[in-house]
Amino acid sequence: MPVKTLTTHDHTQMSVDEIFADLKARMGAISPDFELQYKAELAYEINQLKVERNAVILGHNYMEPALFHTIPDFVGDSLDLSRKAARTDKDVIVFCGVRFMAETAKILNPTRTVLLPSEKAGCSLAASITAEDVRALKERFPGVPVVTYVNTYADVKAESDICCTSSNAAAVVESLGTDTVIFLPDEYLAGNVARDTGKHIIYPVKLPNGSLLADTSVDYQMIGWQGRCEVHEKFNVLDIEAVRAQYPDVVVLAHPECSPEVVEASDFSGSTNAMIRYVEEMQAPHYLLLTECSMGDNIAAANPDKEMLRLCTVRCPHMNQITLEMTRDSLLYNQYVIEVPEEIRVRAYGAVERMLAIG
Ligand code: 13P
Ligand code: SF4
Repeated sequence: MPVKTLTTHDHTQMSVDEIFADLKARMGAISPDFELQYKAELAYEINQLKVERNAVILGHNYMEPALFHTIPDFVGDSLDLSRKAARTDKDVIVFCGVRFMAETAKILNPTRTVLLPSEKAGCSLAASITAEDVRALKERFPGVPVVTYVNTYADVKAESDICCTSSNAAAVVESLGTDTVIFLPDEYLAGNVARDTGKHIIYPVKLPNGSLLADTSVDYQMIGWQGRCEVHEKFNVLDIEAVRAQYPDVVVLAHPECSPEVVEASDFSGSTNAMIRYVEEMQAPHYLLLTECSMGDNIAAANPDKEMLRLCTVRCPHMNQITLEMTRDSLLYNQYVIEVPEEIRVRAYGAVERMLAIG
């Protein structure tokens, strides 16, 4: 069976044998048949449940390859999946991703059931800031618009003027047309956007009593926050230099949640979708992805001709919670249902909608 691209998924019509053959074509070189057979049977069961429950499955690019290539109706980055969530007419949305993504789907679809297969699928960035922190920033910098990364919880979005993702962050900041913006909570993404938009950034320090210390003596146009992705903060410039010494012809791609120094030392930076497109469209002898390691596996499974160098220790512990077993159970037992209080949802909806309207 020919290997399909990352974005084409319709396994609902396939038998267990066909799913197995597809998985074997993609992953036969790295996984034994009995493992692929087990996963094909699970995927088949999930696809039947999906039809029975009139559900759509959205899969983030960081899902493990056997899940990624068998059950999602749509795969993509945060922005892409938000758009798919906004357009669905299914009764149930199963989000194979992390909580903030499932919450965004619920914010956009209050009448549908949104399921997240694991209760433990959080995110270090979303955990780095509270709604109270945003209120304190707004008090400290009155009138300055607040841009929040979608990697935040609904109550933080509700305090914001507009959301952004890694694929539209600079465009969102520029769309505001203001001299100054508050950009939360990713310190590194903010640093990368500040560089791209030519702005100087300051990072207020939160004191134990909750008040904010900010050096406003410099000429600043962005106010950031010290949240970090626990995965992308692991990469450093020395890693890149070591790989370039061993593979001089390597093309290095870094997610914008990596530090500005790492992004500067790379050949390309973009959202997970943008990195996938880059690898599919550009011919290079080797590629190094500075991002969650399952994505390299997914690209390799879709493009067996591409030489992906692996940094396989860098797995997001939150994305890693989502398995085929948990996804089957989410449809079987209706778990875990995502709820967003209406008063918060309505305000968060405004910030997400404003972002989606930017295009
Ligand atoms: P993308 O929007 O680029 O898919 O990123 C989401 C994420 O959580 C990266 O760590
Ligand atoms: Fe959050 Fe980082 Fe995991 Fe993405 S990779 S979900 S930003 S912890």
